Amino acid sequence: MTRKSAGNIVILTGAGISADSGIQTFRGSDGLWCGHRVEDVATPEAFRANPALVQDFYNRRRRQLLEPSIQPNAAHIALAELEKNWRGDITIVTQNIDDLHDRAGNKNLIHMHGELLSVFCNKCETRFHCREDVTTDHVCANCQETGTVRPDIVWFGEMPYRMDEIYEALSYCDLFIAIGTSGHVYPAAGFVAHAGLNGAKTVEINIEESQVASVFDEHISGRAAETVPEYVKQLLTYPDI
Ligand code: APR
Repeated sequence: MTRKSAGNIVILTGAGISADSGIQTFRGSDGLWCGHRVEDVATPEAFRANPALVQDFYNRRRRQLLEPSIQPNAAHIALAELEKNWRGDITIVTQNIDDLHDRAGNKNLIHMHGELLSVFCNKCETRFHCREDVTTDHVCANCQETGTVRPDIVWFGEMPYRMDEIYEALSYCDLFIAIGTSGHVYPAAGFVAHAGLNGAKTVEINIEESQVASVFDEHISGRAAETVPEYVKQLLTYPDI
């Protein structure tokens, strides 16, 4: 990673930033995940036990993401503007598997939990861009094996992607911002402590306090689509962080 100057920012985003684009968050009041128990759809064991159910779950989410009504909202757009205009490094670490940060224009972006529009083959490990449904009789275009292509999603029990790069960015950031994440899932929920211990100022933006709210220096309350553009405007106007 190239370091431009001091003033580096790491921004962790979660389902709350995409809620304002019409994508449902994970932890609703019923404790279910879009109607399913986590262990039935988001573990390697679930995929082995019932691949059709798991593929169907992600097919439905992929189709929803590709609906014309689902677009980056003002929060995604503000973060892309920040990356273009900020003097230091902006690293977005997203837990979201949608592509709304990509579409908004952020380039220095880490999809730590994978991407809905990507699949890979369990046998030959080839990755493919994917905008279609995947069924259990899908044939891998590289190794020709049947039924081995799975969603490129980091499931529970699997290692999130690009952790070395994330911890490096956290170690060198001056400001850490978490937007729309409940703080239930580690390692992401521990990033605030890591950044804080390394001297960063830490800010949480959420409609409610997260599980790890007490670890942050500051909490900004409100919907991401309203609070994030305001916060970015302030940062660009008074860039002394
Ligand atoms: N603006 C800001 N915050 C919001 C908004 C909004 N419009 N709507 C909801 N939120 C907040 C909620 O208050 C909650 O704290 O967003 C958070 C969403 O929390 P979760 O649904 O738990 O999503 P997230 O934290 O991203 O989940 C982390 O867990 O299930 C796994 O791998 C999955 O990436 C996911 C990870």
